[in-house]
Amino acid sequence: MPLYGEMQIENSDGVEERFVQTFSGEVFVIGAGAMAEAFVKGVLEKRAITADRLVVTGRALGGRAAALGERYGVRVAGMEAAASARLVFLAVKPADVAEALAQVRPHLNGQPLVSFAAGVTMGWMAEIIEHRSPVVRTMPNIPVGVQEGVTAISFPEGGLEERDRRDILFLLEQLGEVVEIPERLMNAATAFSGSGPGFVCYFLEAMEQAAIRLGFDPLLARALLLQTVVGTARTLREWGLAPDELRRRVTSPGGTTQAGVAVMEDGRLREIVDAALQAAARRSEEMGQAYAVAGESAARE
Ligand SMILES: NC(=O)c1ccc[n+]([C@@H]2O[C@H](COP(=O)([O-])OP(=O)(O)OC[C@H]3O[C@@H](n4cnc5c(N)ncnc54)[C@H](OP(=O)(O)O)[C@@H]3O)[C@@H](O)[C@H]2O)c1
Repeated sequence: MPLYGEMQIENSDGVEERFVQTFSGEVFVIGAGAMAEAFVKGVLEKRAITADRLVVTGRALGGRAAALGERYGVRVAGMEAAASARLVFLAVKPADVAEALAQVRPHLNGQPLVSFAAGVTMGWMAEIIEHRSPVVRTMPNIPVGVQEGVTAISFPEGGLEERDRRDILFLLEQLGEVVEIPERLMNAATAFSGSGPGFVCYFLEAMEQAAIRLGFDPLLARALLLQTVVGTARTLREWGLAPDELRRRVTSPGGTTQAGVAVMEDGRLREIVDAALQAAARRSEEMGQAYAVAGESAARE
């Protein structure tokens, strides 16, 4: 059965503009919170799937699930809807994973289950669903909400067909970059790209406050901050430069950038950043272990 159909987009004059691929199977999303919404919004805006093929569920069918259904025109249904889905996405908090998996377990029949949950291992999830479906683990970050995210993905060693793998990548690529990594690097990915937006924002907060102290009006400081960040990221990407190369290009001997970087070097900013990422990765590992212990009793109940 073909997995993608061609969808013709027409402009207001009825003239064909382009063809895009759409996913032709049904996709079931467990959870109706921030991550589920980012996924639904992203795949619909990119026209990677039509709304009638997306089904969401929450802890209850009213509340956030119903709101998501109304906002995006997707169906809202109970766990039994997983049975006819080609793919199942799991977007509940790590602490709720065991309960949600125990509920969906009877409706799984080999369709891949793709988890967005931080810290929860593939092996542990596979055991809870009694190996009824292959489990794929991902770690997205917040910019998936504007389709500029990074999603780290780990596939299981066996049990996943090539077409499943292609389908999962096709949908996730609508949300930004997707990078495949071995599962042992998931805690590192959580610390780096997962927590990365938080770390960048911490640095940006400091830049913004410093700009205000230099005399800028807060609104102007914010505007300059955002354009400086977006412009720097685009320059790195479009010119194909490493950060240190671009830094050297803008640093003249005895100039302003050099004066500022010297203060950062004296303050050992690199060592602080290194320690911050190490701490975040350790925390990810600890949290995964804690959820596994808490979840085991929930899954048995
Ligand atoms: N938000 C992000 O940017 C982000 C980034 C990376 C990874 N993640 C991962 O994505 C997952 C979801 O995070 P979130 O921020 O979207 O959480 P959230 O906003 O709290 O949403 C969680 C959703 O899960 C639903 N839920 C809980 N237990 C359920 C069950 N047993 N059956 C069905 N639905 C259930 C809740 O239902 P109700 O609405 O009915 O309460 C809620 O809609 C987490 O594991 C997190 O690690 C999120």
